[in-house]
Amino acid sequence: METIVIEGQNGNSTIIVDERIEEVAKYLPKKKLFIITDKNVENHYATVFPEAPFFSINPGEASKQLGYIESIYRWLLENNAHRNSFILGIGGGVVCDIAGFVASTYMRGVEFGFVSTSLLSQVDASVGGKNGVDLDGYKNIIGTINQPRFVLCDPRLLKTLPHEELVNGFAEMVKHALISDVKLFEHLEYDCNDLLQLNQRILSSHIAESIRIKARVVTADERESGIRKLLNFGHTWGHAVETLTGISHGKAVSIGMEFACRLSMKKGLISNREYLRVINLLQSFGLPTCMNIEPNKVFNVLEKDKKRNANSIDFVLLRGIGVPKIETMDFEELKKFVQNNNDET
Ligand SMILES: NC(=O)c1ccc[n+]([C@@H]2O[C@H](COP(=O)([O-])OP(=O)(O)OC[C@H]3O[C@@H](n4cnc5c(N)ncnc54)[C@H](O)[C@@H]3O)[C@@H](O)[C@H]2O)c1
Repeated sequence: METIVIEGQNGNSTIIVDERIEEVAKYLPKKKLFIITDKNVENHYATVFPEAPFFSINPGEASKQLGYIESIYRWLLENNAHRNSFILGIGGGVVCDIAGFVASTYMRGVEFGFVSTSLLSQVDASVGGKNGVDLDGYKNIIGTINQPRFVLCDPRLLKTLPHEELVNGFAEMVKHALISDVKLFEHLEYDCNDLLQLNQRILSSHIAESIRIKARVVTADERESGIRKLLNFGHTWGHAVETLTGISHGKAVSIGMEFACRLSMKKGLISNREYLRVINLLQSFGLPTCMNIEPNKVFNVLEKDKKRNANSIDFVLLRGIGVPKIETMDFEELKKFVQNNNDET
């Protein structure tokens, strides 16, 4: 078991890796407990939930809507939740985002924690204190930055996670290695098959490594004014692909990472060999690195990115595996690159 601490402006968050869900009671404060989960997680694990009332949302992104979560606020009121209650989210990224947002806003904020049940949530969504919901198709546009008191990551829970969802998590693990640690990238190359087979020892060690990277970045820049932007590696192009095609987040980020690496290679920042190593690793995890869509259409969506500047957008590129670089890319320059390299997207 390993613990990793994030030092947030409003308190610390302790992430416990390789602890069993059955042990969560040890980490709960002596407060009235309310659980938020989803119906899939409930079906698999309700029998090991701590004793408390729970609200089970419909699984999936469609539940991350302000309108939908009003029913959770009402449920809390009806069950006499007060400012000294504690909210525990047990689920993937959707549940954690909702539980964190509800807890941060109900009665101006109650304490909360997570049992993170998907790989993406363990290495990414439940780490870093961003909580939020969607509005009118804009993802995570309403939200808060507020650290959970603890996050429990039990890798055994991943045995029931659908393979497609597992792969989404691997995309973020590759991203973390690419932006910070060539050694970790090598370990991922070496351990790929064991990870796909859910070898628990190797999985735990990689989950902890990946969380450590995100925790370091978030502790240095909780509110994304500087280096937290590095976590957007692969996401700028990837989000546009996701919006346009509706493919899963992990697959879209994988395509976005290929694009960022190709751009890095074009700028002479990485070699063809490094580019191919990234592509090979992504493909070994079963992630796509190209897709049959018109790159100009992706570019048109990218131009509407909420994080754009007036005539440019900040792109995270690589100067080597594990060595990121934030580059402000003029839209004109980017458009030329897209048009001259439109054999793949
Ligand atoms: N707050 C952040 O910093 C941050 C970062 C990345 C992503 N996110 C958000 O996370 C969400 C995606 O998270 P996700 O990929 O975990 O999606 P998810 O929560 O929808 O989970 C994916 C699916 O797996 C099921 N599931 C989860 N754990 C399971 C288990 N152990 N066994 C069986 N089924 C299980 C869920 O019911 C769901 O159907 C998005 O809304 C995204 O915006 C937030």
